[in-house]
Amino acid sequence: MSRIVYVNGEYLPEGEAKVSIFDRGFLMADGIYEVTSVLEGKLVDFEGHVLRLQRSLSELDMASPVDMDELLTIHRELVARNELDEGGVYLQITRGAPADRDFVFPDPAETPSTIVMFTQSKNLANAPSVQTGISVISIEDLRWGRRDIKTVQLLYPSMGKMMAKKAGADDAWLVEDGFVTEGTSNNAYIVKGGKIITRQLSNDILHGITRAAVLRFASEAQMEVEERLFSIEEAQQADEAFITSATTFVQPVVKIDGETVGTGTPGPVAMRLREIYLDESRKAAI
Ligand code: PDD
Repeated sequence: MSRIVYVNGEYLPEGEAKVSIFDRGFLMADGIYEVTSVLEGKLVDFEGHVLRLQRSLSELDMASPVDMDELLTIHRELVARNELDEGGVYLQITRGAPADRDFVFPDPAETPSTIVMFTQSKNLANAPSVQTGISVISIEDLRWGRRDIKTVQLLYPSMGKMMAKKAGADDAWLVEDGFVTEGTSNNAYIVKGGKIITRQLSNDILHGITRAAVLRFASEAQMEVEERLFSIEEAQQADEAFITSATTFVQPVVKIDGETVGTGTPGPVAMRLREIYLDESRKAAI
């Protein structure tokens, strides 16, 4: 079945959806995005994703082509039309397609933003990597300084994933000034003595929607959380490590730069958090 996607107000078969070659998303990576996961045909943490989208738009002085209430309708319509049970909805807004290439932002009255949305079917809840855990390598964080904005400038994260693949690992953790910022497409955590440690929020990392939910659930379950910097060396000596994102939920990490973390198998804290996250998300999904 061909996917039905959404482009600028229209639902179309994916092969018929078109965006101009002058679109600033294409020419300048002048765009932002969100990925909302879908479980049992329902949207997980939808409000959090829309709030972050609004923040990304406002930080870049970009207008939304649709109002925020309409976004829920479009998300649901895409899930229904594609009979999506599990996976995600990708949403991208760019600063539109002016008449020609120009570094200067176009006047939004003349150049409406472009919006594109599509579904991706994926096994999230029972992903095989959860049972084994994943391995990560560390690489230098060479991204720009506004990582709190969810832009489509994903070349370096893509290069990071390729460096990991080449090294026989699953993903990469990014390191700046000796401390882990985050994963290429996820937030990074370690567990030591039962305490969950993750980098504090700043412009250095994306403010993960899954991160916010997981830290809230951890506190509610009386688990101790410490938001601070940690290094690769500390992570290698931790009891557990894990990542979070809308596409992985809580995913255990068992190897860092070839060193086994803890027992080398998914740890109890990560697995418990994953279970709570999945239970609560299923209950709250809309
Ligand atoms: N990535 N950090 C980075 C750099 C990310 O790209 C992501 C999400 C996260 C986790 O954020 P959240 O919990 O809101 O998904 C952290 C998405 C899933 C992606 O690019 O596909």
